[in-house]
Amino acid sequence: MSKFFALIPAAGSGSRMGNELPKQYLSLNNRPMIYHAIHTLCQNQFIAGVFIVLAPSDTEWFKYDWSEFSEKLVVLSCGGLTRADSVLNGLTAAKQKNLVDTNDWILVHDAARPCLTSILLDKLINELAIDKVGGLLAVPVADTLKRSNTENRVAHTESRENLWQAQTPQMFRHDLLTQALRSTTNINVTDDASAVEALGFYPKLVLGDAYNFKVTYPQDLALAELIIQKRNNP
Ligand code: CTP
Ligand code: MG
Repeated sequence: MSKFFALIPAAGSGSRMGNELPKQYLSLNNRPMIYHAIHTLCQNQFIAGVFIVLAPSDTEWFKYDWSEFSEKLVVLSCGGLTRADSVLNGLTAAKQKNLVDTNDWILVHDAARPCLTSILLDKLINELAIDKVGGLLAVPVADTLKRSNTENRVAHTESRENLWQAQTPQMFRHDLLTQALRSTTNINVTDDASAVEALGFYPKLVLGDAYNFKVTYPQDLALAELIIQKRNNP
């Protein structure tokens, strides 16, 4: 039987957030932001282990007490220059340490998506566990889309039909994802599915929700905090 593992790439610097501290450590409801995703993933009954991929130079991680997650959490200090490098390095390290089998499912989840719920996580796993390829949480694009010219004027309006916004977790088997990321190291892929797509596969889109957004800019942090506070005090 193949198992399910989560892998959280957390080696980014959060440049768009504009804070010296990488965004995964910014305070969110009195915890470093990354705590929230770790908590949801470690709590999940299907997930056998959670790999955290840190930048080799990261000292911030070790300032916190993570012992409540010690049964499932594995720290891998092998992050790379891009998100794809960090994921690939994490997959390779986990395999080298004999922690995963090539047939196991890996759910890659951004450290910067703190509002993932157990309900969505269960839904993703249930919808993909018998899938041949794997897939990802995503939401249909809601806004009207404009293509700009070089002067920031509307060149034309894009159809939003069949357009989705990719989220995470993105769930693929260890061997397929490793092969996909290895073969796309020269292309700038910003998620795992695009590497798998480049091999000619069609990842499945599983309907997520807007709460599972990625904290990218300062205003996103305040929004994530409101959502988590409301969940804790309904
Ligand atoms: N990430 C990573 N290794 C990198 C770059 C990104 O592990 N070299 C991780 C981030 O830590 C984050 C996830 O990939 O959990 C999604 O990336 P993003 O939101 O782009 O985070 P950053 O790259 O840190 O932010 P920015 O692009 O604004 O610098
Ligand atoms: Mg980035």
